[in-house]
Formats: sequence, structure tokens, C-alpha cells
Amino acid sequence: MIVAPSMLSADFGNLQRDVEMVNQSEAGLFHLDIMDGVFVPNISYGFPVVKSIAKAAKKPMDAHLMIVDPDRYVKQFADLGVSYLSVHYEACTHLHRSLTNIRNLGMKAGVALNPHTHVQLIEDVLDCCDFVLIMSVNPGFGGQSFIPRAVEKVRQLKAMIQAQGLNTLIEVDGGVNFENVKILAQAGADIVVAGSTVFSAADPTNAIHQLTHCL
Ligand code: DX5
Ligand code: ZN
Repeated sequence: MIVAPSMLSADFGNLQRDVEMVNQSEAGLFHLDIMDGVFVPNISYGFPVVKSIAKAAKKPMDAHLMIVDPDRYVKQFADLGVSYLSVHYEACTHLHRSLTNIRNLGMKAGVALNPHTHVQLIEDVLDCCDFVLIMSVNPGFGGQSFIPRAVEKVRQLKAMIQAQGLNTLIEVDGGVNFENVKILAQAGADIVVAGSTVFSAADPTNAIHQLTHCL
């Protein structure tokens, strides 16, 4: 399992220390949650913080845009060195165009689905996605509890990917812990985001290790 620690749960007073911890760990990606206070009822952080993380990060950055009209900012994330960029299905009127644009800027393109959004709705753009992010909480906050229905969505999505002969990655975000990570791995998830499970642990490096070797 590829683990993407969510920096939303990091200690922003010790950001460099927490970035260094992720660098030294078995984590695969830095997950960066960008919230605008409009698409979701919370505001997180923006470009100055992403820039600071980028300076110290030795692993690819995975930015999750929980913002309206994400097309306006895609280029800036590319310029900051983000490798994986996801936009929300619910925030894009022209999703095909948004995903194509992300790829054209040299990034891996992802679409994020809220808990109420059926995976079938992205069937016609699946070949434009390098990854799909299944939200297992309602986006906006770290530390919420996992919505079990997400597991079935992972299974359905995996079947869709195989039916189309693609190698799209499946990422799951929200409430991931030591128990549900196993079920997610068996269902076909490739990447899990983990905020509180990593940063609230007494030993975050070990928490990443355990999640990575969950099976
Ligand atoms: C929620 C964010 C998540 C969140 C995960 O809106 O997209 O990435 O930070 O945090 P945990 O793992 O604590 O649910
Ligand atoms: Zn996220």
C-alpha cells in the first residue's frame, strides 16, 4: 500500500520537522489538502505553505483541490512542482477539459468523488484519469470517521478500470486507520491518505510502516 500522509494534520509550527519525518519514512507521497471555504466549510492553506513543503519534500506531492473552479489554479500547482493533482467531480462543469489540462501540464490527473457521487458517473472520463480519489468522509476536515460504503465503491471502481483495460490508481481519503486499511487493500485500493492516524500516533514513522505493510 502506498501511504500519503495528509499534511493537514501536521504541526505547522514544526512543519519542516514533519516534512523530514515523511521524507525518512516509507510514505510514498505528500498529500496536500487545499480548501477554499466555499466548496467545503473550511479553509486550509495555500501557495506559501505548499511552497515551503515543496522546498523540503523529497517525495512527490499529491494536491487535493477542494475548491470551486479549480482550473484557475492548476498551472500554479504545476509550477510549484506538484506531481499528482486531483479536482472534485462536483466542482467541475467540464471535467474532461480539466483533466486533460492537468495532464498537458505534466502532472498525473485525478478526480475526487464525494461520498454521494457514484463511481459510474466517471466512466466516460476514466481514460483521462491517472488516479481516482474516493472520499471516505465528507471533505473539509481531518479526524472524521470512515464511511464504510467507500469499500464497495473501491470494488466497483476497480471492476470499471479492469473492464476498460486501464491502470488507473485508486486512492482513498478520510478516516483511514489500521483496521480499514486492510479491507481497502483487498478491495483494490493502491494509495491511502492518512492524517490523524499518522500524526496523532506516538510514533508517526511506525504508523506509516504499519499502514504500508497492512496485509
Ligand atoms: C479531508 C481531507 C483529508 C484529511 C484526512 O477533507 O481531504 O485528506 O486530511 O485526514 P484523516 O486521515 O484524519 O481523516
Ligand atoms: Zn485529502
